[in-house]
Parts: sequence; C-alpha cells; structure tokens
Amino acid sequence: MDIRFQAGGPSRWKADVALSFVFEGEKAEQTCPELAERAPWLGIAPAWRDFRGRKGEMTMFYGPGAMEISRVLGVGLGKGDKLDMTAFRHAVGSALHRCREYDLETVGVDGTSLARVAARLGVDFAFLVRETVLSAFLGLYRYERWLSKKSEHADPRWLAFLLEGEFVEDAVRTSARMAEAEAAGITLARDAVNDPANVMTPSVFAEKAREVASRYGMAFRVLGPEELAAEGMAAYLAVAQGSAEAPRMAVVEYTPAGAEGRAPVILVGKGLCFDSGGISLKPAKGMEDMKGDMSGAAAVLGVMEALGRLDASHAPARPVVGIMACTENMPGGHATRPGDIVVAKNGKSIEIVNTDAEGRLVLADALAWAQEHYRPFRMLDIATLTGACAVALGLGTAGVFSGDDVFAGELCTAGEKLGERSWRLPLWTATSLEALKSPCADMVNSGPREGGAIHAAVFLQQFIREGVTWAHIDMAAADMGESPINAKGATGFGVRTLLSVVLSAGRMLQ
Ligand code: BES
Ligand code: MN
Ligand code: ZN
Repeated sequence: MDIRFQAGGPSRWKADVALSFVFEGEKAEQTCPELAERAPWLGIAPAWRDFRGRKGEMTMFYGPGAMEISRVLGVGLGKGDKLDMTAFRHAVGSALHRCREYDLETVGVDGTSLARVAARLGVDFAFLVRETVLSAFLGLYRYERWLSKKSEHADPRWLAFLLEGEFVEDAVRTSARMAEAEAAGITLARDAVNDPANVMTPSVFAEKAREVASRYGMAFRVLGPEELAAEGMAAYLAVAQGSAEAPRMAVVEYTPAGAEGRAPVILVGKGLCFDSGGISLKPAKGMEDMKGDMSGAAAVLGVMEALGRLDASHAPARPVVGIMACTENMPGGHATRPGDIVVAKNGKSIEIVNTDAEGRLVLADALAWAQEHYRPFRMLDIATLTGACAVALGLGTAGVFSGDDVFAGELCTAGEKLGERSWRLPLWTATSLEALKSPCADMVNSGPREGGAIHAAVFLQQFIREGVTWAHIDMAAADMGESPINAKGATGFGVRTLLSVVLSAGRMLQ
C-alpha cells in the first residue's frame, strides 16, 4: 500500500472511500464540513440517523456512485475527553479491515477530522499522521503463509491524506515515511516470529539477517559453532548442544555516512528459535508458543530493516550494531545436563541448574562478545527472558532494567509514546547475587521463582563491563498479542522503542 497526500483542499480530493473520525454526540455538520464540500450528499446521507460516533462504531455513508468521493466511512471514537492513542490506533486498524473487506482500492483520510483528533490527544498533527500510517499497515498485516485457502481480499492500493493546505509540510511527509519504515520493520519481525520453528531455524534466521544487511549495504558476519567455540562462548554453546540445528550468531553493522569511528549503539536480541526447556523440559501446554522465543532477535532485525529504509537525512548519527544470538534449546543426547558447569566468555563459571534458564546463558556470551569487539556508546538487550516478568507486569508490558536512570527513563517514555508499554524494575544486585550463589561455581543460572525477572537481569549484569551504559528489556509478556492492529500472533514489540533510542542516541554525540 502506497502512502500519498492530496493537498490543495476539497476540490482535489478523490478516493473510493474517505475515512472520517467522529466523536460521540457530534452533529454530522460539525464533523466533516470540508469533506462535505467534496461529498455534498454527505449531509443528507440517511445513515447519519443511527450513527452515534461511539467507540468502536463504524458506519459507511453512501452517495451517488459518480461523485469523486461517493463513500465516507464514519469511524466512531467515543467521547472526546476519553480518547487515548491506543483507541485511535485500534480505530484505524478496524477501519482498514473494513476497507479491505469491501475491496476498496483507494482510501482517503479526512485531514480535518484528523487534526481535531490530534488536538484532543494533545499531539502534533505530523505525529498523528505517523500513527495513522503505522496503524493502517499493522491493521492490514496478516500471516497466511500456510493457509491453503488465502483471503480473497487484497490490501488497498493506496492511502492518501486529504489536506486543506496548498502544500504538505515536511514534518508530515517525514512522519509518514518514518511510519512506513517502522511498519516494514515490524512486519519483518512478526513474520519471523510467526514462522514455525521447523522453518525459522537459526540458519534461516541468519540468512534473513544477511539479506537485510545486503539489501541496505550494511556489513554482515555470522558465527557458527566453530567460531563460537573459538571465541570461548561456552555458555551459548551449552544451550545449543542439545539441538540438531547449529547455532548462528548474526551480526549486522550499519555505519551511516559521517558516523564512522563513533561509538556505536549495540542491540542484542535473544534468538531462541525454539525453547523446549532442554532436559529441564517445559510442560506440553502452550509449548508451541516457544517458537516465539526469538522475538528479541526479530525486533533487532526489524530495527535494522527500518534503518535501511530511512533515507540518509534521517540516518542515525552513530553506527548501529545488531547482534542476533540464535539457537534452539532442545533435549537431545548431547544436551546440557542440570549440574553441568561452563565457563562463559568473560571467564565467569556458571553451574547450569536449570536448562530452561537458557536465554541468559546465550545473552551472557553475546553481551561479552559485543564489548570485546566494540566500544559501545549504549548497549541494549531485548529478550523473552522470564515468565516471572509476565507475572509481575501482566500481559503486553515489558520490564526495563538499567543502572542508568536517564536511559531507563528514555526507554519507558519512548515505549509509552509509541504504544509499546514498558515499566522499570529494579536491579537489586546484592540480593540477586545471593540468590544465584553456587557451591561449586561463580553463579547458578537460575534462582528462586520469586523475583525471577530481577535475578535474570542481575545475571546478565555480571557480563557488563564497568562504565558501559546498558539496559535490558524483558519482553516475555509482550511477544504475542491480538488487537485490531495485531492479527493473533507475533506483535513485533520492541522495534519502535529500539529504533527511537537508536535515532536519539545521535543527538547525544560526545
Ligand atoms: N523463554 C522462556 C521465558 C518465557 C516464558 C517467554 C513464557 C515467553 C513466555 C525462558 O527461557 C524460560 O524458560 N524462563 C524460565 C526461567 C526459570 C527456569 C528461571 C521461566 O521463566 O520459567
Ligand atoms: Mn527457557
Ligand atoms: Zn527461553
């Protein structure tokens, strides 16, 4: 679907359908007077008699087929003072579903009604354009790869903003492009997560990463079992060794022009293409969801895809390194046994008391590797790490851990604004280290259930060097979802937050 603008006022507007956002209790003539200039039939359309503009309500108004705009889809938003951004995003997603269901090829968005929504929400018009574009794409997203009977309805060809002014402001165009890049990144992440583990293996994921890198001229390398062994990454390999699929750590490096030699932002994603638990096998119920245990790595690759799509003038001012630590956790004959001891890349020994606490083992070595090969300006890992985080914060929300108040705040604020909710949790280092004590190694890999998300974060912290600004995002409760902008399955959570951090890190050149 293309994104377009029809500037110059009502006389220039033309589309199969125009979406107009309506607050509850408004009169038809208050709602969209400009649109009614182009669609004069709108004021007397009989369907207004029953349309209330309630939240979730949608009504199609019809005029004579020969008019430039002969359909208007009234999208109810409920009471203006109750509206929030999530409800608006859902309304856009639902509206696009309707357009597709009716096989409407070209969709206009009534810019004046959009401006009223922006004022109500207290956001810039340009930002609301970004949210509209992204919600439209996310609403249309579907995963049909394996359905023998695919949907008969194609996506609309284009979506155009119907604007009053003679020109389209730069900020508005830029916002729309940003949303297109974000949509591409999220779509890629969702596809990778929705793909089953027999298809999206570590090797296939790494090839996907290679494709992204080569599409945008980014540097790429991949470490297989031999390279991981040569690098001393025994904790990572301990997870991989029970599987018939070889591990792959994919590294995509994006250095925008002018950013050469600057300290990079490093993103590390947990890429467990399947987590059976290993010998500490998980229960059968819901185990299929563990194909999504590579959601962190998928988010990182989604960010690289989005970066590749942004044009040079919006490139980050620092290099970005995306590290995707992929493997499976399987209970094969070579699998790690509970009680096995390994020495991680940074020299710390770990007694693996629970093979299902595998994500931290993989990330520990990936984080240590990153700091040996780069001098990070910021380092961030994202992982479906602990069920405990889901218990603590509820479904849909991620936990943020960082010793740096500013960085933690920046992540939570960005997430709030962008529809990826996260909440800071503490790094109680001394307490968790006590809980992770081993009689025969430096640490065990799994502590008590109580506070499990914190223990996992503190475990990772043991692999961060002094002076490195680091944050950890536990997205175990945010990888899967269902809403009008999320076909049941992968969410693509993290792409927007990470992208925003990467782009703002450039403004902190030092
Ligand atoms: N991948 C899981 C965490 C997870 C659970 C993600 C549910 C998404 C949904 C992780 O590897 C895991 O198994 N964690 C264990 C840790 C425990 C053994 C300390 C958990 O949370 O139970
Ligand atoms: Mn596990
Ligand atoms: Zn896992």
